[in-house]
Order: sequence, then C-alpha cells, then structure tokens
Amino acid sequence: MHRIAPTGLIERYRDRLPVSDATPVISLGEGSTPLLRADRLGVVLGVELYLKLEGMNPTGSFKDRGMTMALSKAAEDRAEKVVCASTGNTSASAAAYAARAGIPCLVVVPSGQTALGKLAQAQAVGATVCMIDGSFDDGLRLVRELCDRHPITLVNNLNDYRLEGQKTAAFEIVDEIGVPDWLVLPVGNAGNITAYWRGFNEAVTAGDATDRPRLLGCQAAGSAAMLQDADVAQPETIATAIRIGSPVRRVEAARAARESEGGFVAAPDEEILDWWQRIAQLEGVFCEPSSATSVAGLARGRAAGTVEEGARVVCVLTGHGLKDPDTAVARSPEVVRAPATFEALERIALR
Ligand code: F0G
Repeated sequence: MHRIAPTGLIERYRDRLPVSDATPVISLGEGSTPLLRADRLGVVLGVELYLKLEGMNPTGSFKDRGMTMALSKAAEDRAEKVVCASTGNTSASAAAYAARAGIPCLVVVPSGQTALGKLAQAQAVGATVCMIDGSFDDGLRLVRELCDRHPITLVNNLNDYRLEGQKTAAFEIVDEIGVPDWLVLPVGNAGNITAYWRGFNEAVTAGDATDRPRLLGCQAAGSAAMLQDADVAQPETIATAIRIGSPVRRVEAARAARESEGGFVAAPDEEILDWWQRIAQLEGVFCEPSSATSVAGLARGRAAGTVEEGARVVCVLTGHGLKDPDTAVARSPEVVRAPATFEALERIALR
C-alpha cells in the first residue's frame, strides 16, 4: 500500500496554527522549502550564509504560506469571493489557492509595474485581473473599501491568517539550523518581517529555541518607507514586488526590528541587480530581482559593520526568477547565435 505524506504547512504545523478539524485545508503543497548553504556567496560577504528558497513554493513565492491559511479559513467561513491588491506575487498566489478552493477571486494590480510571469499565473487559474492606473498603495486602499462595503474577503496581509501561515518559515529555519545570528529579508508591505518575528518568538515559547535572531529588513532605496517616518509618495524601483510607499504593517515591523536589535537598510537598484546576478552566477540560484534586495541589504550591513564577520546569516529569497523573465534577459549575457554546423559550434565551445 502506498502512503501519501501530508504535504502542506498546515499539516506540518497544525498544532501552532489557528485551524481545527472543521477547517478544510486548501493546500498546493507549500512550505518545507530548501535552506541552501551558500558558501561561494558567503565568502564574498564574509559570513556563514544560508539562502531560504521561498521561490520553491507552488506558485513561486513565499506568499503561498499565507495563502494556504487565508483560503482555508475563507473556505471554512464560506466566503463568497476573495480580493487582494498586489504587486504580483500575492495575486498569483491568491488566484491559485482560490481556484483550488472553488472561490471566485479578484486581484488588483498596478498597471505597467507587474512582472509578466505573475500576471500570467493569475490569469491562467481564472482570477479576474484588474489593472488600475495607480500604484499598489492605491489598489490596497480601493480593495479595503470594497471589503468594507461588500461581503468580500480581503486576503492581503491585513488578514492575520496570512501572517499565521508565513510565520512557519521561521519554524523551518529553527528546525534545520537552529537560530541564526541574522535573518535578512526584503521588505515591502512589511507583513513578512512581522510574520517571521512572530514565528521566532513562538519557537522560543515552544521551547524549540532559546534565542531569537536579529532581523535586517531590506528595502529598495526608491521606496524605503521604513527608513523614514513618513510614507513615500511616489515609490520607484526595478524591484517592482516591493515598490510600496505605505507599508500597512509598518508599526509591527518597526517593533520587530527594534525588539530583535536589528534594523532596516536600503540599497539602490544598481546594487540590487548586481547582487541578483551574483546570487545566480555564484550559487546557481535564480530569484526575482526584488528577492536579491536581501543580499544587497546584507552587503550594506556588512560594509557598515552592523553585521559582524563570520555571522550565521539566513537571507530569504522570496520569489522565483521565472516571475520576471524580462529583467533577467535584459541583465544577462547575450545568447550566442550560430549556424547549425559542427565547425561553428566547435569554435564556440573551444573559445
Ligand atoms: N519579496 C517579494 C518577491 C514580494 O512579492 C514581496 C511582496 C516582498 C518581498 C515583501 O514582502 O510585503 O510582506 O514586506 N509582495 C506583495 C505582493 C506586496 O503584492 O505580491 P512584504
């Protein structure tokens, strides 16, 4: 007889999540992502480096951790429809889990700023994709109002079930390597850093850890709202996933950074792209540019002396490189063209 192991994170961490026997588990097999030791990149940065490959989740980003929870609870509550605003990954994930749950889904994305792969994903699974002439922040404001006025369930990270699911990434890290010195991740709407902090704290409460890591939240210089008190009116960055001027989890994220004795750092686009390429070429890991903000931020933290030499560091790579093929192709070595002859190929192979 064959036995199929439980695959999703709700089954893996059921006792630490707000689910019951009455909760229909809407899963695509998310979580349990690889924590890859990255020695070649680690040497360059002077730290013991691990990469948490969140792009290995079913829709290619960490959003699936929160969405398995949000849609399971939406199904339990017999939601008629779900909605989110998104820079792309949340929409791809919400759309997929909604399809799996049989619940209609509307996603709102900013026009011209959403990577192609993410749009294709949401469209393919049958969501209504609405592109607005406005920013992510505009979209979020609109969908909040929509949910205030109609019986539609919001699955942005204002929905706490999202954070409940996302906190499990911290459990996985503790399970595998214990507590690192630093946890470094990109920050946009600031839900994920909030969720990690919750997860590390719960790991201590559960007796799985005696300590907590310091958190370094990394933003793109053109949309670094966490580094100032005010919102960024016109956020700009190539890292479109985190092109957000008004992080809704600002207060909790600031508290997480403060309590962990960590902080926030910003890197300009050129550095983000530079580290994106190094992650790919030194480690063979293809992430989306926004995800490389974590490594770019770590490099800044090292240069400033915030992150000490030899520290054990986990960088979260939040999304898969295939999400944004346009940026990848534009930044990579050119394709070599050749006639279909042995001589031509031999010349290229031996040069
Ligand atoms: N990395 C990627 C690839 C993302 O898509 C996001 C957020 C973040 C990091 C930042 O996470 O918002 O919790 O601080 N993407 C959202 C979206 C905004 O709509 O897909 P955060």
